[in-house]
Amino acid sequence: MSDPRLPATFENPGLPPHVHRAADTDPRAAKRAERQVAGLFTLSILSTIGFVVSYFAVKNDTEVFVPFIGATNLLNILLGVFLALALLGIGFGAVHWAKTLMPDEEVVEERHPIRSDDATRAKAVGLLEAGAESAQLNRRPLLKATAGTALGLFALPLGVQLAGSLGNPTKALEELKSTIWDVKDGKPIRLVRDVERTPIKAADVSIGAVFHVLPETIKDSHHVLEDKAKAAVLLMRLHPNDFAADDLGKKARSWGYEGIVAYSKICTHVGCPVGLYEQQTHHLLCPCHQSTFDVTRDCEVIFGPAKRPLPQLKITVDAEGYLVAPQGFAEPVGPSYWERKK
Ligand code: FES
Repeated sequence: MSDPRLPATFENPGLPPHVHRAADTDPRAAKRAERQVAGLFTLSILSTIGFVVSYFAVKNDTEVFVPFIGATNLLNILLGVFLALALLGIGFGAVHWAKTLMPDEEVVEERHPIRSDDATRAKAVGLLEAGAESAQLNRRPLLKATAGTALGLFALPLGVQLAGSLGNPTKALEELKSTIWDVKDGKPIRLVRDVERTPIKAADVSIGAVFHVLPETIKDSHHVLEDKAKAAVLLMRLHPNDFAADDLGKKARSWGYEGIVAYSKICTHVGCPVGLYEQQTHHLLCPCHQSTFDVTRDCEVIFGPAKRPLPQLKITVDAEGYLVAPQGFAEPVGPSYWERKK
């Protein structure tokens, strides 16, 4: 019996007229397609045989010269080529067969309405109510209350476990701020060139110059790679008048020394090294996703996905005129996702 909710006859919902393939209407085209499919399968058969013969017949130490590659093991090349042809022959043959010779019918499925009819819905509600009644939930409020509470509280241990495993956020923040620049004994740490490890005098840094810098206290044998990466700093000198006159630029001036400023080299987006300094614009660029930081404005982000400025390292000079950091970073270096406010 037909469903009374469906239209009596199926109507075309607006599909364009079906275009028949050449092989459906022309027996010669069908025969040609058959030969093409058979040819592809035959190619696969021959390639498989070629693979097996090569495996046994070609010596493993035979070399052949291949343009652009040079001397190469012949057996590996033969096995690779035959295997590729064997697989491609099967794959292309199957696709060509399906597209040219297999039945080509367009079928439109008639769909029933998703909503059940009122009688079915009423029956389902009745079944649920009967189930609740047989469990005597309404007649035994004590059971209902205790069962509900037990099930509700059951999630609590999971929540406690989850919250506990997140650790202490204050401690985590302190750990992220901590780098080898942290002053332990009250003695400021000299800035040294990252390759030569020689200290830098303020007089060595001319306007426009950039130095890649590490703390003098770095010990290759003691510090793991991650500690060294976190301590990487870029040092550059601007003309004091180049810094923004408003509040942005104030910290750069007060935490720098006569136009020399030092910033963490670790991008606050996802931690790539910010290695490009544009002397003319005083912009620092991260090559990974093009975040751009304005050195004249406390390294504010002026372009790209980074969400906060590069942390500045406070610097001054010691009695001998060498640049030193009197304290570590005041904020975490690198990406710090939980700090995002927007
Ligand atoms: S890591 Fe620097 S912009 Fe993405």
